[in-house]
Amino acid sequence: MIAAEMALRKPTGKIGTPRREKDEVELVQGVTDGRADGRPILIRIANGDTDGSKYMKFYDTPRPGHADLPALLKFPDHDLRGSGQFSGRLTAAIVAAGAITKQVIARDGIQVDAFTRSVGDVADTDIRTQADARNSRGFATRACDAVLDDRMRACIESAGSEGDSVGGVVECVITGLPIGFGGIWFDALDAELAKAMFGIPACKGVEFGDGFGLGTMRGSESNDGYRFDDGRIVTESNHLGGIVGGMCDGAPVVFRTVFKATPSIGKPQDTVNLRTEENDTVEVTGRHDPCIVPRAVAVVEAMAALTVADQIARGYR
Ligand SMILES: Cc1cc2nc3c(=O)[nH]c(=O)nc-3n(C[C@H](O)[C@H](O)[C@H](O)COP(=O)(O)O)c2cc1C
Repeated sequence: MIAAEMALRKPTGKIGTPRREKDEVELVQGVTDGRADGRPILIRIANGDTDGSKYMKFYDTPRPGHADLPALLKFPDHDLRGSGQFSGRLTAAIVAAGAITKQVIARDGIQVDAFTRSVGDVADTDIRTQADARNSRGFATRACDAVLDDRMRACIESAGSEGDSVGGVVECVITGLPIGFGGIWFDALDAELAKAMFGIPACKGVEFGDGFGLGTMRGSESNDGYRFDDGRIVTESNHLGGIVGGMCDGAPVVFRTVFKATPSIGKPQDTVNLRTEENDTVEVTGRHDPCIVPRAVAVVEAMAALTVADQIARGYR
């Protein structure tokens, strides 16, 4: 199961970086014969396909949009090769940990699935179910159907062929959470999910339910009414994304995460030269993802699963 989840984070074709990491997960400790043995689980994922040389010029001319400038000024010993600790590479470990966590929360009937809602100007405008999200595993862009997959792929390839990049939106659905699940205040389920999403490199926004659209809706439109259905309390709609007061209201938790366009691009960009202390330009020639979104879908799922498990561990069930 860990290998299957890792495969979903891997770059494919021209829509991801040409770097080819094996992403082989070595279970150093804590798993015997495919089962947890009670010890803390220690995972090791070696970096294989590395080329630090392409990063050396960023010591002088930091890339706009990436972490180079603040990192170099803040940490004089910052190792820029592969972007150091600001690389999307760290998300490999998150996906591996998430694959284990998904198995733990599945025992409580909790399921996390995500898909690509948009890439550049290609948007999926249909209402999507958790089954649709699951189905996106069959498409490289993590779109919900083949037509959207083709259009999103074309959009990414077109930007990439111009030495440019595109961003997009990942939507995530969590089901199986009982009414009342979640902490309050700073530990609220929405607060913790948002914090986790912002921990993913390139995330620039998170919205729940109708999100920013709620700003133009009246209370009579945005409140999700309650009804008994076979003795169970259900909501009639899901404008609020399944969370009120930081706790689950019984509807599926639905949120979206926006990822900016990949900062490393082949076009010349304005920057400063930290050595000559003059204005300069920089062009990136390394191997980068022209779009982060398809790979980020697996990361969003993993982060959401880890957040839910963390809330359970802290007694917020
Ligand atoms: C899965 C994944 C892959 C990424 N690949 C790249 C990449 O190839 N090139 C790049 O410049 N940034 C890439 N990023 C984004 C940078 O890591 C991120 O933009 C940078 O650390 C700055 O952080 P911020 O965008 O959150 O401010 C990737 C992020 C993720 C989640």
